Amino acid sequence: MAKSYKIAVIPGDGTGPEVTAEAVKVLNTTAEKFGFKVDLTEFDFGGERYKRTGETLPDSAIDDLRQFDTILLGAIGHPDVAPGILEKGILLKARFALDQYINLRPVRLYPGVECPLKGKGPDEINYVVVRENSGGIYTGTGGVSMIGTPNEVAVQSAVYNRFQVDRCLKYAFEYTKKHGKKARGIGDENTLALCGKTNVLTYVYGLWDRAFHEMGKKDYPDIRRDYYHVDATCMWMIKNPEWFDVIVTGNMFGDIITDLAAITQGGMGIAAGGNINPDKGGISMFEPIGGSAPKYTGQNVINPLAAICAMQMMIETLGEDKAAKKVDDAVRFITANKLKGLGAGKMGFSTSEVGDLVAEHVAD
Ligand code: IPM
Ligand code: MN
Repeated sequence: MAKSYKIAVIPGDGTGPEVTAEAVKVLNTTAEKFGFKVDLTEFDFGGERYKRTGETLPDSAIDDLRQFDTILLGAIGHPDVAPGILEKGILLKARFALDQYINLRPVRLYPGVECPLKGKGPDEINYVVVRENSGGIYTGTGGVSMIGTPNEVAVQSAVYNRFQVDRCLKYAFEYTKKHGKKARGIGDENTLALCGKTNVLTYVYGLWDRAFHEMGKKDYPDIRRDYYHVDATCMWMIKNPEWFDVIVTGNMFGDIITDLAAITQGGMGIAAGGNINPDKGGISMFEPIGGSAPKYTGQNVINPLAAICAMQMMIETLGEDKAAKKVDDAVRFITANKLKGLGAGKMGFSTSEVGDLVAEHVAD
């Protein structure tokens, strides 16, 4: 019998629904071609619903989401809603409640895509960031006192325990073993680099650093271990991106370096990420990382490739490797042969036409 996957779809705000529709279009074509079934249920969480009902992502919704195999998300963020409400109330709530403790962000320059770095091409921009997604500054540990007075005090702590660090490192080492450059036949060794700040954040990154080398020495002696401070990481991502294979880092640094990384792969039009719970029965959530882009909403000009790539990561995580490979090939084919650029309104095609092009290539 054909496999069937229950998928929750949250199109969200701004251009989220437009790009999600294209990802779903390609998903349906892919499922048909590769002989699996998808059972999609749409949820309307986002800014509009919040404005109507005051609700972000209620606890009952988390229980609903637990009934699915996986989640496809468009974008969260609304110009009429104060920053933080929807991000914390929907996106971060889902990540924390479903314990999606890995944020996986491939950084790949696709063929035909213009790279802002001089002399760098698809061979050089070809690595992955494993961002810890459950701890650090994002836990909201801290508070304010004497708010609004000249003596106001604000504290927001970077909190990590050994368990969180170890489970993230284990994922990163395993990922490197399976998908590192040697494993993919494009390098002599598989390399995992820790990105930290051991010269200042001695407690938190001291913990990461010790845990990293202990685990690496004991369980993954064949994986080369590198270490970079976060500021230096930014520099090398621009100057020598080819040095990187897999990078593992904490939540805040991961957030920052992956936006920098995204621009080196051609921008937000193509950058996708997975919020992954790798444990048995864990429910993961895949999203384009670009946000809701309100100024392009409803114009059919936004690039849907990031959402399509998020869907591609989703089916790969579900175990549909052949189908995932075909979607990746299709994206590569159209960046190399069809699109004029990746920016909104600069593709030479509309949002829905780009979805059609990918779907046609998958069906071929
Ligand atoms: C991301 C985003 C989110 C984050 C925001 C929207 C809360 O920037 O997924 O990278 O900081 O994690
Ligand atoms: Mn971010």
